[in-house]
Amino acid sequence: MESNRLSTASFPVLDRRSWLKSTGMAFAGLTVGTQFLSSSALAQHEADRSARRTEPVRLSGNENPFGPSQMATMAMMQNLERSFRYAGVETAALKKLIAEKEGVAEENIIMGVGSGEILEIYGLYLGKDKGEVVTVSPGYMQMVRAMERMGTKVISVPLNDKLEHDLDAMAAKVTANTKCVYICNPNNPTGTIVNPEKLKAFAIEVSKKCPVFIDEAYLQCADNFEANTMVGLVRDGHNVAVARTFSKLYGLAGQRVGYGVMKPELVKAVQEYSTGSLNLLGVVAATASLEDAAYAPETVAKIKAGRNALIDVVKGMGKKYAEPHGNFVFFQTGMPISMFADKMRAENVLVARPFPPMLDWARITIGTPEDMAVCHAALKKVLA
Ligand SMILES: Cc1ncc(COP(=O)(O)O)c(C=O)c1O
Repeated sequence: MESNRLSTASFPVLDRRSWLKSTGMAFAGLTVGTQFLSSSALAQHEADRSARRTEPVRLSGNENPFGPSQMATMAMMQNLERSFRYAGVETAALKKLIAEKEGVAEENIIMGVGSGEILEIYGLYLGKDKGEVVTVSPGYMQMVRAMERMGTKVISVPLNDKLEHDLDAMAAKVTANTKCVYICNPNNPTGTIVNPEKLKAFAIEVSKKCPVFIDEAYLQCADNFEANTMVGLVRDGHNVAVARTFSKLYGLAGQRVGYGVMKPELVKAVQEYSTGSLNLLGVVAATASLEDAAYAPETVAKIKAGRNALIDVVKGMGKKYAEPHGNFVFFQTGMPISMFADKMRAENVLVARPFPPMLDWARITIGTPEDMAVCHAALKKVLA
């Protein structure tokens, strides 16, 4: 197979060594984003940063405030002036790199404007046959809602007492009329993960009857990603699709890059429903992120430290929580979520929306240590 370095040579995406060379150690104390700024622009940038400090701490959207890899930031800056180009060549190169990393053929990859687009268009494609979709409650609803809009009936199975997917109960709901089973692993909003051996056996069996869709948006934040990803099932030819995104671990939510791994015939059929194409800066940033080998382990460690510290606070306040594996924690507040959210907002912290039927539980995203210090202080006051 032709190496990706050749395929990306026509546009600037740096590897870590050239990035360090080009920026020089003199920049070590600066954020990459400031290095091309004039002194007046730098002063404005600093003023904006301090103004932002007075804004609410946003722990509501499961974004990754540790931000993109510095190589990704650099790649975006280097490609700014090439923004007059459509990103066809760069998207093809990213797809090739993703296929290599996932160990599948390029024909197995479908690129999306965020993984949200994959969920939407896969849902539209399957929803045209109406029928039923099996999912959990509370769970992430984007794909399920797309099917529902097309006339599919949503069958929601409650989570078990550990707030994990109850795979046996889900399997029991699969009938000849089921068009898809959707699994979000780790689940949003609970953050719980499914035992990989059980999930694999479940997906193999169920996919003989209907397609199984596994949303791995947060799996890169979990321990032992390799043992937990279900891409191997696609590789083995099962009727399983996996979605992944650059929005979470890679800190690129605003750049809108995601992808799906599925059978080539599904890629072709689902692609028909796509209406957008990817943006150049997002694509070069995603490519650089994959080429920055150090970024993922460093960022997972920061997220995990933030998760553990937040659990300590929640536990210390005597509250129940779900075992988290994503970049967020879901816990019982002991009061209606609307009241909890208002009280947290009064302390300058934004938390996630309600997740029915668990209306006294809250989801809080892991922020930077500074964000989390504000959040911990607020929690100690609000939950006291
Ligand atoms: C489970 C899950 N899947 C998919 C998405 C879509 O994310 P994006 O479109 O940014 O890739 C989200 C966003 O929060 C999510 O929580």
